[in-house]
Amino acid sequence: MKDILILGIETSCDETAASVVKNGRTVLSNIISSQIALHTLYGGVVPEIASRKHIEKINPVIRQALSEASVTLDDIDAVGVTYGPGLVGALLVGVAEAKAIAYAKKLPLVGVHHIEGHVSANYIEHPDLEPPFLCLIVSGGHTHLVIVKDYGVFEILGRTRDDAAGEAFDKVARAIGLGYPGGPKIDKVSKEGNADAIQFPKGKVADSPYDFSFSGVKSAVLNYLNSMNMQGKPVSQADVAASFQKSVVEVLVEHTMQAAGDFKMKKVAIAGGVASNSALRNAMEEACRKRGFSFYRPSPIFCTDNGAMIGAAAYYEFIKGTRHGWDLNAVPSLRLGERI
Ligand code: KG4
Ligand code: ZN
Repeated sequence: MKDILILGIETSCDETAASVVKNGRTVLSNIISSQIALHTLYGGVVPEIASRKHIEKINPVIRQALSEASVTLDDIDAVGVTYGPGLVGALLVGVAEAKAIAYAKKLPLVGVHHIEGHVSANYIEHPDLEPPFLCLIVSGGHTHLVIVKDYGVFEILGRTRDDAAGEAFDKVARAIGLGYPGGPKIDKVSKEGNADAIQFPKGKVADSPYDFSFSGVKSAVLNYLNSMNMQGKPVSQADVAASFQKSVVEVLVEHTMQAAGDFKMKKVAIAGGVASNSALRNAMEEACRKRGFSFYRPSPIFCTDNGAMIGAAAYYEFIKGTRHGWDLNAVPSLRLGERI
């Protein structure tokens, strides 16, 4: 069978990314131009700056993705692009670029749901992984526990009621003075802290065993900081980070294991930016090992936003026959499983 090469484009937030992916699983190139340094100045992503930077970077990033894969646009079979959810101005840059390339080269255009991309990152390094499996999706904007019933087909078991896991990491990092981006910084500083130093509440939701709530943990951290401050006591950044991380990781693992047991899922995967968290990876791996489940997780470079995951997801949409027209638009609040 002829190989299918997809050009995957991702611009939903603060990374301008493009990749060439063969048959949905083999990454020929994966170029990511991160804007993190720029947004760090402002303590978070500034949407207008993100859009402008995407416009500046998108062509060079795509050119580099093609050249590192040793291909030209003539070798590409379809263009896959994230069209939601995300920042509207940022998404529009990728969507317009993908449409222009597909139109000029008479190629099929495949719009991809960003979260479907995150889940599909697992296919890249695990050739044996096929649906159905359970997946915990933890990113800066989303926290979902889903059964991946088939490629691109999801049953949502639970989700966050308030903050996403990554958002909680980012807010707590800011509160303890670590700055943006919070997740990786908390991960790093936690290694020097005592995770049992402070008892923060777990992000559980009464009567909803698979849902999450992280705003309470975040408030507990803020209250702890205030009370230490008022008593004139010193705060250990590393202990707060490690204790907060422990409370988030525990609830993520507990709910995932509960769902895996209840739904008899023997394969468990994690996806999204927070899936690169070392404590989460270790705890989930250990919990799966104890129960005899197979555990799957992308390498950290495929956990945070990238074009390869979009190329992988686009491939499975492409072979199912998904095609978008020239009227494809950015959909900032596209729901998982929704097709527009
Ligand atoms: O998936 P992603 O790159 O973008 C979204 O789709 O939102 O996720 C970004 C989120 C940020 O909140 C970031 O702080 C978090 O992932 N993150 C981490 C780690 N690396 C990134 N959180 C915890 N530990 C990490 N090592
Ligand atoms: Zn993402």
